[in-house]
Amino acid sequence: MSLTRSTERRKMLLKHEEYRAHLERLLEERNAEILGTNHKLQELYTLGSQTYSFVDVEPKLTDFTRYADQHFHPDTFAIFVEQDKTLKPLAFQDRYGRPFGPDAPQNQKVYRFPLELDSFRGEIYVGYDDESMQLFEKQRHIFGLFRDRVGSYLKEHFMALRHRNEMRQMFVSSVQAHARSIEAKDAYTAGHCDRVDRYAELLARKVGGFDEKWIFNLKVGSILHDIGKIGVRSAILCKPGALDNGESEEMQTHPVVGGRIVRALHGFNLEPIVRHHHERFDGRGYPNGLKGDKIPLESRMILIADTFDAMTSDRPYRRAMTTAQALDELKRFAGTQFDPDLVSVILNAGTELDAARLEMERKPKGDYFVSAW
Ligand SMILES: [Fe+2]
Repeated sequence: MSLTRSTERRKMLLKHEEYRAHLERLLEERNAEILGTNHKLQELYTLGSQTYSFVDVEPKLTDFTRYADQHFHPDTFAIFVEQDKTLKPLAFQDRYGRPFGPDAPQNQKVYRFPLELDSFRGEIYVGYDDESMQLFEKQRHIFGLFRDRVGSYLKEHFMALRHRNEMRQMFVSSVQAHARSIEAKDAYTAGHCDRVDRYAELLARKVGGFDEKWIFNLKVGSILHDIGKIGVRSAILCKPGALDNGESEEMQTHPVVGGRIVRALHGFNLEPIVRHHHERFDGRGYPNGLKGDKIPLESRMILIADTFDAMTSDRPYRRAMTTAQALDELKRFAGTQFDPDLVSVILNAGTELDAARLEMERKPKGDYFVSAW
């Protein structure tokens, strides 16, 4: 073999080696890219198949935000939906903890991906502080898939919320229909259940710290607290003067009878609330003479709301008291009839009670509860 031929051959081999190394490198990069893409798609698939609850949207929003953070590394990420004709953030995260609003970063490279949410608008906001930042076509494609996942989840979420509200309204209407049957027996109690519901809710929100499920339970208990009066004869229920002993006894059966009636309501625990709404804080109430915090909190709230409404409503034998007068009465019996802690809260709610009284006077009797939910 001549020297030239051998040098040529070495050169060729070297080129071949270089080319093979180049190919291997390309293959590795491609594999990494494919694996990375696969990983993103795999996670996206998992994200789509995790259902959680369509009503409680928080855990899913956290997952969406985490996914965007891990795979697209934005400095600012938000999911906006239209509320009251403007876009408001349903989820928001900023890498540097900057708040959403006027202080949010101004000079970002921003990508907006519109969400399809039936009758209203929504969008995903992805912001990068580096204005030269580019989302390449493949990333945009994956983001498109991500956007579809978010969109279809939110569509289901809002549908579930609507459905739940409709179910609630149907349930509340039927609860109200039962309460109306009591009010039909006694003209002076017209609208009473709605007002007790309104004042009890006001008191609970003023105390604070209760979730919406608890408040809803309280509201239903308030509406139905006197349902047991259905078992009391009209002659007693509507008697204008004082009741004799026998009549009083019959009247005092209504919390127990009412408790038995509401026991049948599936998914609620209303019996103790209704049964004990005439217990007194000092233990001298009925039917069981429970004392202090042995009385369910809801019943203690309902007793205050019930008494406040009785005092601030016109009766054949007296005019309605002013809010301030009624609050004075509640204060006078704090610790004997009423829970003193709850009374001290309601004493600070004079303005809100006045507003609620006005609002209830203006509403057609019996329509408040349905329109509020
Ligand atoms: Fe009652």
